[in-house]
Amino acid sequence: MQVDLDHLPRHIAIIMDGNGRWAKRRGLPRTAGHAAGAETFRTIATYCQKIGLEYLTVYAFSTENWKRPLEEVSAIIGLLKKYLLESIEKMEKDKIRLHFFGDLDALPPELRELTVRTDDISTRYEGMQVNVCFNYGGRDEIVRAARAFAEECAAGKRRPEELSEELFSGYLYSAGVPDPDLVIRPSGEIRISNFLLWQSAYAEYYYTDVLWPDFSKEELHRAIAAYQGRSRRFGGV
Ligand code: FPP
Repeated sequence: MQVDLDHLPRHIAIIMDGNGRWAKRRGLPRTAGHAAGAETFRTIATYCQKIGLEYLTVYAFSTENWKRPLEEVSAIIGLLKKYLLESIEKMEKDKIRLHFFGDLDALPPELRELTVRTDDISTRYEGMQVNVCFNYGGRDEIVRAARAFAEECAAGKRRPEELSEELFSGYLYSAGVPDPDLVIRPSGEIRISNFLLWQSAYAEYYYTDVLWPDFSKEELHRAIAAYQGRSRRFGGV
């Protein structure tokens, strides 16, 4: 199957899965898998920017991932911090916009401050937008949006009958971002895992056995080619 880079999906979302198994197969600690996964993220994001993708969303840490051993949680948080510090230096050059989906209040203050800084810098650019889902859960996002709307109703700013799908979308972390066209899940797992539940209503899914640290631009091409070979009907005929 041939990929057509002139007709890309606008928005690709990826569940970066399989870091732990990648490390285990090499006799390495799971944290080494996450470090390798972070490098893959950088390579794939840079490549997506190069081919002209508009939006890339990645799942880095879920609301459920806090259940992992403290050492692993700290390693993932440390990787995000390292990545943000390096990105702040490079954003001027790369023009990549970075945004976060998730409850950032639970992050260490220093990291939270970094996310605010990258968000601020991002408003100056018009390049590809990368959304990093961190402490993110799809159901949690929907509940928060419902609560925010209900609070506005209680305060007399909105009326319940005004609510439409479009209006509701504006209360989600992804407000203003088009829905993902293609969701990629590496590592052989075939499930959604609470990722972009509302936004992926009509997304095409692509699964591959390749583990995330081994995911390459050729794999990305395969996923896009598979997407391009499908017929999207959005419920029509
Ligand atoms: C899932 O693999 C992966 C994660 C829970 C963490 C992903 C984090 C990164 C790639 C690094 C930090 C992110 C950025 C944006 C720099 P798993 O651990 O569930 O793998 P397994 O299923 O093989 O155990």
